Amino acid sequence: MSSETNFPYDFIGKVLFTPEEIEKRVTFIGNQIHNEYRDSEKLLLLGLLRGSVVFMTDLMRKVQMPLTMDFMSVSSYSGSESSGFVRIDSDHKTNISGWDVILIDDIVDTGFTINTVRKLLLDRNPRSLKICALLDKVERHRIDVPIDYLGFAIPDVFVVGYGLDIDEKGRNLPYIASVDAKKYEKSKHK
Ligand code: IMP
Ligand code: MG
Repeated sequence: MSSETNFPYDFIGKVLFTPEEIEKRVTFIGNQIHNEYRDSEKLLLLGLLRGSVVFMTDLMRKVQMPLTMDFMSVSSYSGSESSGFVRIDSDHKTNISGWDVILIDDIVDTGFTINTVRKLLLDRNPRSLKICALLDKVERHRIDVPIDYLGFAIPDVFVVGYGLDIDEKGRNLPYIASVDAKKYEKSKHK
């Protein structure tokens, strides 16, 4: 991929998934969801802000049936390393009782975020609840998370693009790439 698509970001390492590869996989998941939920009258895609936005808005257009979208915003209590304590910053608006909910996140790392939100949602009596993640860092799991729909499994590298960020940068890249830690450190001091 040419360096022009790095925009002004100068910390991009290796491109893991191109826009074409992502599109193909998102289309596949969209079809899967459509096939499994075609009889549902109350399908809700519930995205976790902000990382899931790009994935979710592409995915919803591949699910060719009536559906509703909603969002929640959650954060880990401290630092970049997940602490296991997840705070709800803003809650969804829909009363999910009786809805078929698909919880969508950008990436599963330790699994604490998805697991905490999943438990909270189950207490709110959805008709069904499934989990959809664009990426999964399998080696990093510290808790079992049932991922029903997955984009790609990746190794333990920090990635940006297609909604994912490093300190809020990189979300608008059209591909998913690793961050070059050395270049990133240098770019912070510019
Ligand atoms: P978990 O609770 O450890 O599973 O953390 C998941 C959250 O950490 C994701 O929703 C992301 O916001 C963030 N995260 C984990 N790994 C990465 C990465 O490689 N790039 C960007 N964000 C990440
Ligand atoms: Mg996130």
